[in-house]
Amino acid sequence: MGSLAGKNVLLGVTGGIAAYKAPDLVRRLREQGAEVRVVLTPAAARFVTPLTFQAVSGHPVRDSLWDEAAEAAMGHIELARWADLALVAPATADFLARLAAGLADDLLATLCLATAAPLWVAPAMNRQMWAHPATVENLARLESRGVRVLGPAEGAQACGETGAGRMLEPAELTAALAAEDGDGSLQGRRVLVTAGPTREALDPVRYLSNRSSGKMGYAVAAAARAAGAEVVLVSGPVELPAPAGVRVIGVETAAQMQAAVQAELPGTDVFVGAAAVADYRPAEPAGQKIKKREEALQVALVRNPDILAGVAAATPRPFVVGFAAETHDLEANARQKLEAKRLDLVAANAVGPDRGFDRDDNALRAFWPGGERDLGSGAKRVLAKQLVELIAERMRAGHQAEDS
Ligand code: C5P
Repeated sequence: MGSLAGKNVLLGVTGGIAAYKAPDLVRRLREQGAEVRVVLTPAAARFVTPLTFQAVSGHPVRDSLWDEAAEAAMGHIELARWADLALVAPATADFLARLAAGLADDLLATLCLATAAPLWVAPAMNRQMWAHPATVENLARLESRGVRVLGPAEGAQACGETGAGRMLEPAELTAALAAEDGDGSLQGRRVLVTAGPTREALDPVRYLSNRSSGKMGYAVAAAARAAGAEVVLVSGPVELPAPAGVRVIGVETAAQMQAAVQAELPGTDVFVGAAAVADYRPAEPAGQKIKKREEALQVALVRNPDILAGVAAATPRPFVVGFAAETHDLEANARQKLEAKRLDLVAANAVGPDRGFDRDDNALRAFWPGGERDLGSGAKRVLAKQLVELIAERMRAGHQAEDS
């Protein structure tokens, strides 16, 4: 069995010539252990017949919202609920536009709106269509909502042109899904994650904050969810979509973040503090907007509670993971934090003008009492998956030590 074992994959096929590769995609997904149900748009059914997909998927294929027999068997909402992940391959320019607009004008578009499962798209179209500002805008909108885009590749196109717009090969698509799909290592666990910056009010219109984008914490929450955990994400103000299947609690200040964490802590197995909590807050935020009168202005600051240390001091306590963003002496500072805050694991990254904050990639080194692992550098979502696997591994090691 492959790494998609037991996963319910909803495969949407739209009307492009690359649809001829979709039956092979079904076969490969099934080889990885996935259960696949196929939904065609009416245009896709002109390229490949439903019968072909029925034969390779082993299930009836749907291509209409108005199919009474199919709605009686597995209605479209049940199909949306059934999916652990949804992949649209090939995804035409038209379909991406409809998805970006939130239309529900056919069965597949409706399912994409109705499912809480992570949604992946594999665009395939002529290179001019791919480069058109309308398509570029649609893709950006979809990505900002958390839709994951696979490809396209460059090369010879069915229209005789050469350029970007070829659908990734079925083997590449399957590998991409399998690589990011979790291994179930946190199945049955409850994971609480903090992410993003906090804002500390100076007056009713101004605040102190930092450059945290929340990307690392959101990636950890998504990876923990993919590993089978129930995930709650307590997030400061960020510009990110909620990861699929994750409950997000939005907060603004460190005090609010701490209160939300305390409220959610009971029953939590793993706590990951990825938020860049402001260390200080204005002692007395002004009740009215501070006026521009003085040449120099003094603002008294007081310490914020350390949320992470608070969780580590709780009894019973979850497995506690902290982040350490350091500009220098990475290992020494990370180890110091591990001990001072009594953490089970610390993930350290170097920050500077061109590293760490507000980027999609990162470099992480993990330290725990008596060990360390370099997780290397790469996309935050890939590092997050490795970190989650390491957390599961360390938890198992901890339990074995307790049992022996
Ligand atoms: O002490 P420092 O801020 O460098 O520690 C970073 C780690 O501690 C992060 O995991 C961060 O989320 C957590 N932290 C916290 N509450 C604070 C300060 C930091 O949870 N007030």
